[in-house]
This record gives sequence, structure tokens and C-alpha cells, in this order.
Amino acid sequence: MTIRFSLALCAWSALAALLPIARAAPPVPDEAVITVIYDAFGQDATLRKDWGYAALIEYGGRRILFDTGNDPAVLEHNARTLKIDLGRLDFVVMSHRHGDHMGGLAHLLAINPKVPIYAPKEGFGVYGADLPGSFYRKDATLPAERRYYHGAPPATLKFGAAWPGADFRLIEETTRIAPGIHLIALVSDKAGTRELRELSLALETGNGLVLVVGCSHPGLDRIVAAAAAIDPRVHLIAGGFHHVTADDAAIAALGGLLHEQYRVAYLAPGHCTGEPTFSALARVYGERYLYAGLGSRLRIGADPAPLAALGARRLDAGDRLAYRSALATGDDHGHAHLAQH
Ligand SMILES: [Fe+2]
Repeated sequence: MTIRFSLALCAWSALAALLPIARAAPPVPDEAVITVIYDAFGQDATLRKDWGYAALIEYGGRRILFDTGNDPAVLEHNARTLKIDLGRLDFVVMSHRHGDHMGGLAHLLAINPKVPIYAPKEGFGVYGADLPGSFYRKDATLPAERRYYHGAPPATLKFGAAWPGADFRLIEETTRIAPGIHLIALVSDKAGTRELRELSLALETGNGLVLVVGCSHPGLDRIVAAAAAIDPRVHLIAGGFHHVTADDAAIAALGGLLHEQYRVAYLAPGHCTGEPTFSALARVYGERYLYAGLGSRLRIGADPAPLAALGARRLDAGDRLAYRSALATGDDHGHAHLAQH
């Protein structure tokens, strides 16, 4: 009897210990706001167009910079013009090591040297790397002066980054880095970028996943498949779809894959997606194709829309006041405030 009572008590204690955790788990946000800071097409003549990609993502109170574009001076100009303070970020995601995505790092690190930066882990990569001291073959018959580290290598060999002092956090496999925030890690097997590693950002929302891709070198098909394994409801994909030189058949196949196979609800393509691909995807998606040129601010909720268009469509009086004061003070958090409505 005593034993049975003790067992019951133990079971109850274990359950009670779990309950507060279950109760405390916050619901995922319903939306994210994406601002395109860097691209080679756009409507705003005050911004500088250049080949590359960078976007600010506001999600659940966090400010995330995804990629840094091609040129530090262009990133600085566009961020300043858009009133985006790159000194106030929770973290950065570098999708891959190509210059048109990481060229702006020099500006970012000049104003925000300690910001955590997630980057793909590559052997001897520009973001740094490490290997266990056991990785190379040993020959104990050699005299010590002919052996690496005199025959006693450190447990871990650390390799330098191109930006010493930066807080790189290297990601090797798909990882949930914070509640609702996933980094999808894949390796390209395509000719020209074989072995290139790339991270894509997947955000859980009440409407499904919001996916931000840099250049999709491993293939958007593989990225979307990995995203669908997190949540089969892919709500929106923004960024570079890497069909800039694709032929019409490949572009048509991409449209079918996204629209019919994965039933991705909305697209906001940019960067290396390609001009004929913009046309084709716009035809397939109609109103669910969101224009995402340089300077676009997209509110990705149940019914995604450009933030600027909301003024006419559905801002209430409080929203309009907040939006006007945000514009007057130049506080880009005003947009984040709006996103919470
Ligand atoms: Fe690119």
C-alpha cells in the first residue's frame, strides 16, 4: 500500500512538474513583418539598388537581419533611408558565403560588433570552423619535431573567420534556435555550388510557416520539403529562388511545385528569382504574389499585404496615429507596433 501510494505520488509529482511548462509555452505569433533592405529592383528612387539580398524580419518582438547585401556603403545608405537601426538587432542570419549576401558585414560589424550571427558551418569556411584533433592520421614513429603539435594536438582545432571577433554561431544541421524560429541547413549538390552550405529561416506563425531564403542554392524544392517537415502549412516564401537563368520548363516546374504540390499560400520573391520567374509566378499566384522590391515592408499575417497599403485598407484610428508618429519620429519600431494589431 505504501509502495503503491509512493508510486502514485511520484507519478503525480512528475506530471505536476511538466504541467507548468506546458502551460507556460507561449503561442506562436500570428505574423511577421519583412522589410527588404537590399535588392536590385524596387520603386523607391531614394534607395540604392544593387545585386544582393538583405531583409529585416520583425517577429514576436525580435528583430532579425537576414543577410547583409553586397556592399557595405549601400547597406548603410538603404538602412538609414528606411530608418532601420542595425545597431538594434537580436541576431543575424547569414544564408551562405557568397559576396552578394555577406558583403555588407563590414558595415554591420562596424556599428554592431557583438551581435550574434548564425552562419552555415563549413570546413575552413569564411565564418570560421573547427575540427576534432583526431581528424588527421597520426604516425607515432616520427620524431616529435616532425609531428603536428609535437604529437599532442588539442582536442579541437579552431580555424579563423574572415571577421575576427565577430560572434559567429555555426549551424551544421536544421536547428530550432528560439521558440518558433528554425534555421534549415542544407548542402548544395548543384554544379557550380557543390558543397556550398546554406541556411534558410523558417518562422512558425498561427497561419503556417514564413520562410525566408537567401539564394536557394541547394534547391527550393529541398528547402520547402525541409520546411514542410516542420509545419506542412507553408504560408509564405520570401527571398531569392535561384531561377535567374532557368529555362521556361524549370520555371513552370517551380510554379507547380510551390502552388500544387506544397500549396504554399503566398510568395514574395526577390533577388536571384529571375525576371521570367517573376512573371510566371505572378501569373500562377495572382493576388497572392506579393511585390517585394527594395524598400517593401510586408506584413505577413492571415492576409499578407504591403504595410503602406494598409493605410487605405484596414488601419483603425489608433493604427493611423501610431503610423503617423512612427513616420514623424523615424522609429521603425512603429511598424513592429502596427504588426501587433
Ligand atoms: Fe545571391
